[in-house]
Amino acid sequence: MIEPEPWYMRILLIGGGGREHAIAWKISRSPLCEKLYIAPGNAGTALCGENVALDPNDKEAVGGFVISHGVDMVVVGPEEPLVKGLADYFASEEQLKRVMFIGPSSEGARLEGSKAFAKAFMERHQIPTAAYRAFNRDQAAEAREFLGRFSPPYVLKADGLAAGKGVVICATREEAEQTLDEMLHDGKFGEASSTVVIEEFLKGREMSVFVLTDGESYQLLPSARDYKRVGDHDTGANTGGMGAVSPVPFAGPEVMNRIEERIIKPTIEGIRKEEIDYRGFIFFGLMLVDGSPYVIEYNVRLGDPEAEVIIPRLESDLVKLMQAVCNGTLKDCAPEISPRYALTVMLTSGGYPAAYEKGYAIEGTSGVSGSQLFYAGVKSEDGQLVTSGGRVIAVTSLADDLESAQSVSYANARIVDFKGKYYRRDIGKDLLK
Ligand code: AMP
Ligand code: GLY
Repeated sequence: MIEPEPWYMRILLIGGGGREHAIAWKISRSPLCEKLYIAPGNAGTALCGENVALDPNDKEAVGGFVISHGVDMVVVGPEEPLVKGLADYFASEEQLKRVMFIGPSSEGARLEGSKAFAKAFMERHQIPTAAYRAFNRDQAAEAREFLGRFSPPYVLKADGLAAGKGVVICATREEAEQTLDEMLHDGKFGEASSTVVIEEFLKGREMSVFVLTDGESYQLLPSARDYKRVGDHDTGANTGGMGAVSPVPFAGPEVMNRIEERIIKPTIEGIRKEEIDYRGFIFFGLMLVDGSPYVIEYNVRLGDPEAEVIIPRLESDLVKLMQAVCNGTLKDCAPEISPRYALTVMLTSGGYPAAYEKGYAIEGTSGVSGSQLFYAGVKSEDGQLVTSGGRVIAVTSLADDLESAQSVSYANARIVDFKGKYYRRDIGKDLLK
């Protein structure tokens, strides 16, 4: 058979965190990528391509750039532009229709953008999830009564996007009623909490799985476990993620098979049946309750810092996989995944996720060996790297066993330095025998 001519692509990646540095790092290694732009990017993505000062939520500006620079493929890192309809805009504009676009339509993005939509979707397709009901502002009395169906703790979720902060777990009925009131009536999460989902508390082990889909078939990517709380041993405030491990040692072949049969396949089938335009990543946040998987949430993107452990284990060409999503050949493109363990430790600015200072010089990166650094809140000022966010650098290591990946990441986490540096000391510890 004659191989088709390779098509060298100009690619625009949207986003500017550690996840995007990992995606950009991978894309830039593809022989299919002729030119990579990142909007807005950070000091890490600048090492992989050209950063461009575009607002990801400004559809016309993004579309205009794509036309003027002959971009062939757009890859969206974060959820917000998707929820706001960037994919729909590209599908509706004559000059943008031909562009390969990785990220779902706004309807598909509602799987993340509206918890009530996601729960109803799971109900329609018999996908295991916590029992729930959604309530709007006029249903506050019913909502209060509904709490009585559960025993503590109570789980309250703002329906809309709330920057990862919209879930409140309340230890007592009193606290739950008060939180409900603040969410519905005092705009605790702004408009996002004008509808609230109340659901059953699931006790188990959390993990995540990821797929790339064209809305009909899918390919499984590596699983991951993330560490959301700021403090060691899962204490303190929730963050975007303080570290991650891939694969998840407690999700063996039997568990993974259950996850595919009970959750992934019915989700893809639901998307297909409902004719939702979906080309991109799906992130399944799961709770394993006595080995049975339940969906805690869907996200319509890769996770951060999960991407920083998933991407390094992906041996196949990511650009080729994304191209397959757009030309309908994904089902024949099973990715190769490294059997090695990846572990990442997130270095953060002291104080994060509450108030923190930024603008501090980052030193020691040239002394790092055996780890890959993915920059999150890092910018370059006159050639000097300085902190520019709460999560600063993800230190990722790959090794044949988890313990080695952990010790290499921690050795390098000590070498990279900036004023106020903080990181969890126990990433992966719970997973070691
Ligand atoms: P989310 O923002 O949906 O990822 O939720 C934040 C965190 O709240 C999750 O990572 C879980 O630890 C926890 N959580 C959410 N829903 C439930 C539930 N139904 N039962 C127990 N924990 C939950
Ligand atoms: N680390 C969790 C997320 O990206 O949503």
